[in-house]
Amino acid sequence: MTEQKPVTETTAKAVPVLPDAQTITEVKHYTDSLFSFRVTRPASLRFRSGEFVMIGLMGDPDPKTGKQRPLLRAYSIASPSWDEEMEFYSIKVQDGPLTSKLQHVKVGNQIILKPKPVGTLVHDALLPGKRLYFFSTGTGFAPFASLLREPQTYEDYDEIIMTHTCREVDELTYGRDLIEGLKTDELLNEVIGEGFWKKIKYYPTTTREESPKMGRITTLIENGELFSDLDIPAIDPATDRAMVCGSLAFNLDIKELMEKAGLKEGANSEPGEFVIEKAFVG
Ligand code: A2P
Repeated sequence: MTEQKPVTETTAKAVPVLPDAQTITEVKHYTDSLFSFRVTRPASLRFRSGEFVMIGLMGDPDPKTGKQRPLLRAYSIASPSWDEEMEFYSIKVQDGPLTSKLQHVKVGNQIILKPKPVGTLVHDALLPGKRLYFFSTGTGFAPFASLLREPQTYEDYDEIIMTHTCREVDELTYGRDLIEGLKTDELLNEVIGEGFWKKIKYYPTTTREESPKMGRITTLIENGELFSDLDIPAIDPATDRAMVCGSLAFNLDIKELMEKAGLKEGANSEPGEFVIEKAFVG
């Protein structure tokens, strides 16, 4: 007969606080309604820059049963595929079921992160081209924060046009800082070559607060100002590709403009000339 080992010590140690728990390593608040945070990355998680995962927290206990269920939402991964941690960029909605709580996370806290990345804002879903447009509003900048730090973006394209439209100037800070940071990113400068960031044309606009460039990007495409300001030709399906991330209304309006310019929508299963994904909203 074999001797039975006591199990108390090992079982007590192995109980995780949350299922699929990851630990917060950094939190930055930008405005009353925007913040970003970084978390540890599951060792086995592989993803393509531009994809999203489900993240969240445990919900409040059910008043009858006392049971807690995970409260999860789809969040674009804002960090590139090579980063050892994961970054997310989020809105804060004061009565939002998840973000009303998530906005209070601190370094050392845990969140739930389901390690199943998916999404269409990936290089694989686009046919080869020369110029790549990233069109975003609000927190729709997040997947592009990943793709702007992805070496393949610069290997595959001669020029990247990054547009970001927000209501107010402060809401542009996360994107502006990220683009500024690329200039001194040692890994990218080494892998892609010094000055790779000169391939990026950054085009921030605001709609409700005075700034150097005002207006919805859809209007600036239609009236041609985007092209004249950047000294580039109008969108051409022979050379241009686009990725789009914003509100549903924004995505639909850009889709119409892309199709009017002759671009066809792509997917993972059938690469095309532009791809769309809705930004997380609440
Ligand atoms: P606007 O201030 O004119 O509504 P929101 O916070 O509502 O998602 O908007 C974020 C930014 O995206 C705002 O600058 C907003 O402009 C702009 N926006 C919202 N909807 C559209 C759309 N359908 N087409 C173009 N821009 C849009």
